[in-house]
Amino acid sequence: QWTTSSIVDDTVAAIREQVGERRAICALSGGVDSAVAAALVHRAIGDQLTCVFVDHGLLRAGERAQVERDFVAATGVRLVTIDAADRFLGELAGVTDPEQKRKIIGREFIRVFEQAARDLQAEAGESGEHIDFLVQGTLYPDVVESGGGSGAANIKSHHNVGGLPDDLQFELVEPLRALFKDEVRRVGLELGLPETIVHRQPFPGPGLGIRIIGEVTADRLETLRAADAIAREELTAAGLDRDIWQCPVVLLADVRSVGVQGDGRTYGHPVVLRPVSSEDAMTADWTRLPYDVLERISTRITNEVAEVNRVTLDVTSKPPGTIEWE
Ligand code: XMP
Repeated sequence: QWTTSSIVDDTVAAIREQVGERRAICALSGGVDSAVAAALVHRAIGDQLTCVFVDHGLLRAGERAQVERDFVAATGVRLVTIDAADRFLGELAGVTDPEQKRKIIGREFIRVFEQAARDLQAEAGESGEHIDFLVQGTLYPDVVESGGGSGAANIKSHHNVGGLPDDLQFELVEPLRALFKDEVRRVGLELGLPETIVHRQPFPGPGLGIRIIGEVTADRLETLRAADAIAREELTAAGLDRDIWQCPVVLLADVRSVGVQGDGRTYGHPVVLRPVSSEDAMTADWTRLPYDVLERISTRITNEVAEVNRVTLDVTSKPPGTIEWE
């Protein structure tokens, strides 16, 4: 029988064994997985860990502040934030293929981390310990879906499993590799992380980059960020955060439809609401959100986000759909 505290103890022991006296850098993405992975590694090796948070410009509204404030307050780890939005947007320019986006984002992530490690190494000076390890919050479902598990087909290359460059210069530490999401949350609580972090809904590493169907641009990100913030606000206000697993908001950036607002004809973009219920993201059902909540979200998005003139609802289960659109 695996209790949560025995999972923590076993994992901490395994991390100590793997890392020894050497140093690690932690790939914080802003999600619960990387936060719990970081907290576990911090418990195991303390100051040998430095967390690096890459702001890839594909984050939702307020997320950077949440990581820099809440996570640091809860753990006390050393956090370095790197502003890489321009770099990611530059690499993503003109790219529309979902797998291509994932590979680019994953590759740039690793490159930015490598640079961060070199910078930290330089800071430590000649006598400093080399940084050998990269911590990632890879979960069991990610491992299986990327074909790394029991021979499953490669459905999508998750950025924290597939898409790693061949010249990767870190050894990976993946303390959540055997766990499902609910176990990760229990481990987070066991480690004393606040509810706001532990019960944060999952958000993919590639961020809003895979929720813009079409090319990712700064303007489109701004549009999606505004629509997403409204949907999250209304779901939270309705007390539905614990009832849904997550609710991606997807911008169909290459689709336009005619609408009318005030006296004028509009020719804007649709967004898709994708509320799902799930235990572990391996399968999911679309959530039957109350109509009045859907109405508030729709009215607010179409009123407040100029580029969006239609709000649609995805009523597909997984399978056959995946949770994300890309
Ligand atoms: P799908 O779309 O495969 O998503 O049904 C399953 C769960 O995984 C999240 N997801 C990701 N998480 N890196 C991540 O860390 C990724 O590349 C990625 N792609 C999808 C998704 O939000 C859902 O919770």
